[in-house]
Amino acid sequence: MAGKTVVIGGGSGFIGTALSSLLRHCGYDVVIVSRVPGAFSTTWSDLERHGLPKNTTAVISLAGQNILDFKRRWNPGFQQTVRASRINTSHSLAMAIQRAEIKPSVFVSTSGVGYYPPHPSKEYTEYSAGGKGDYFAELCTDWESVAKLPAEVGVRQVTIRSGVVLGRRGGMIAQLYLPFFFGMGGPVGSGQQYLPWIHLHDIARLFLHAVENEQVEGVLNGVSPNLITSKEFARAFGASLWRPAVIPLPEFVCNILLGPERARMLTEGQKVIPKRTLDSGFVYKFPDIRSACQEFCPLVYTDDLDPANISR
Ligand SMILES: NC(=O)c1ccc[n+]([C@@H]2O[C@H](COP(=O)([O-])OP(=O)(O)OC[C@H]3O[C@@H](n4cnc5c(N)ncnc54)[C@H](OP(=O)(O)O)[C@@H]3O)[C@@H](O)[C@H]2O)c1
Repeated sequence: MAGKTVVIGGGSGFIGTALSSLLRHCGYDVVIVSRVPGAFSTTWSDLERHGLPKNTTAVISLAGQNILDFKRRWNPGFQQTVRASRINTSHSLAMAIQRAEIKPSVFVSTSGVGYYPPHPSKEYTEYSAGGKGDYFAELCTDWESVAKLPAEVGVRQVTIRSGVVLGRRGGMIAQLYLPFFFGMGGPVGSGQQYLPWIHLHDIARLFLHAVENEQVEGVLNGVSPNLITSKEFARAFGASLWRPAVIPLPEFVCNILLGPERARMLTEGQKVIPKRTLDSGFVYKFPDIRSACQEFCPLVYTDDLDPANISR
């Protein structure tokens, strides 16, 4: 294993930090591609100038401007930033792979369950049609098509369509933790909409699974096999904090805070099934929402970035 390097674009973020810990724990060297230089990172312009580091065995694309940033208005400028931060970075990684004399064995790229149109009951597997109809679906289509470029030069390619990633230090839980801790949490809107989710450890393990298993290729839904609604999530998260979770966040408030198009990510959902993921042999550590929430509840909370706590 020594001397095998994994390059992660956007690896400094919420998922990337957990994934880097797991990869290092498993014996890989990790190089992060970032907008800012650092000890274990390189910049996008250095990647373009010098190409992939020697011994790169896998390349992973995780960069992306946070879409649900409440401080940013959902205007054309921000939409362009959201798009460019995913497509341009994935393109840079794909080009670096194409230019590399010795190719890595795999390119694993991220996409989102926003690929599937929101629907109250329709079930979506990786084989379902999608990728059009709204801003997010079209973004996913373009993001995924750039990610396929390395396949043209014979590099195995995997796209992980991730649901909401749940972990204490980032993403949705970091934003909801205080309201729920003070008993002010609850479902979004009616609470009946599906919430495709996955625990942080499992999404990191799924990336590792995609890197290490040569038979894995194409699209994998990065979601838990146990489907829940927004109401069921609120109940489980509240229970793990020993708090009631009955105060709903009304749909009109989401619309005001995020703008109606972006608010649909919270107020409407998709019933997403990880069929290919399960068929590929992936085994979840936190398949149900109760065990997932208990992992980051304060009574049993252990640092979810500690590599000792994320294992294969
Ligand atoms: N977290 C979730 O629940 C979730 C769900 C579905 C899909 N995803 C996708 O998974 C990927 C990783 O998610 P995450 O939660 O780990 O994201 P994150 O922590 O918000 O960001 C990941 C990294 O993206 C880079 N980045 C941010 N804004 C950028 C910009 N404008 N231009 C270029 N790079 C930028 C940053 O790296 P530097 O600052 O080092 O440049 C950041 O560390 C994202 O593409 C996201 O869309 C996440």
